[in-house]
Amino acid sequence: MKFIPVALFAAAVSASCGRIPQKRTADGTGHVFHFSYSGDHGPLNWHHIVADSDTCAHGRHQSPIDLNPKSVTFSRRGDVRIDIPTAESAKLENLGAGLEVVLTNGTLTTPDNTYQLVQFHWHTPSEHRINQEHFPLEAHFVFQDAENHLAVVGFLAQLSESGHSTCLFDNVFKQIDAVRHPGDYAYIGPLDFSEIARHLDRNPPVQYNGSLTTPPCSEGVRWYVSSQPLPLSVKSYNAVKRLLKFNARYIQNTLGSENLLDLASHD
Ligand SMILES: *[C@@H]1O[C@H](CO)[C@@H](O)[C@H](O)[C@H]1NC(C)=O
Ligand SMILES: *[C@@H]1O[C@H](CO)[C@@H](O)[C@H](O)[C@H]1NC(C)=O
Ligand SMILES: [Zn+2]
Repeated sequence: MKFIPVALFAAAVSASCGRIPQKRTADGTGHVFHFSYSGDHGPLNWHHIVADSDTCAHGRHQSPIDLNPKSVTFSRRGDVRIDIPTAESAKLENLGAGLEVVLTNGTLTTPDNTYQLVQFHWHTPSEHRINQEHFPLEAHFVFQDAENHLAVVGFLAQLSESGHSTCLFDNVFKQIDAVRHPGDYAYIGPLDFSEIARHLDRNPPVQYNGSLTTPPCSEGVRWYVSSQPLPLSVKSYNAVKRLLKFNARYIQNTLGSENLLDLASHD
């Protein structure tokens, strides 16, 4: 299968994303990340500022990567499925360098395993690239199996020229003002996942074994990145970018090759 340009997914997208109550204040304050994406707390230094994250600097199967059709494997249609029931209420958290929804109702089924949802979150711009092209946004749905093995389903998003968007993202980003400050959290809902589940089914993901893209950068993470971007409205993109600013780790070396930080430290 080839990566084909974004074009024909608009038919399934309705003009309205349903009614969602507007929330204006946070329900409370929680934790924030201690790492960031620039300066001495940025990704070049994560192994110094976050405990037990040596893998960030020395691992050889680190994420994100450039998804080149020559180096990744496509799943067969129907082999990788997510099933996440509509969530009446879920916790939206501003983590400082991240925006996350905590939700555990949901499963990922792959040919050899079943995983339970842990949370999902966003990066601006995208972390993965496709043939070196980056995208304005990437969502990561993090799943875990009974032995704590991790699998992440990634969705890239592309600004749509037609005004179409992805309702799940619109409905979350409409609530972003409730969690304006790092540490803020608020309960939001309902959230409907049927549109993105269909998208994954129609656009089978590429798969590879990589790592977490945040410290401790643990490896052994099964990645499934949808081969087609979701549509995103300019309004939603601007709202989430205003909050997230820039939270994408740089592209890592080819899978199996020396970590770029090790490589850079040679004389
Ligand atoms: C998760 O599933 C349980 C059992 O079906 C249900 O009671 C609960 O409301 C669900 N949680 C959310 C956030 O929808
Ligand atoms: C990922 O690693 C597992 C376990 O070693 C292996 O079975 C699987 O084929 C790998 N997947 C890819 C896409 O390389
Ligand atoms: Zn992520």
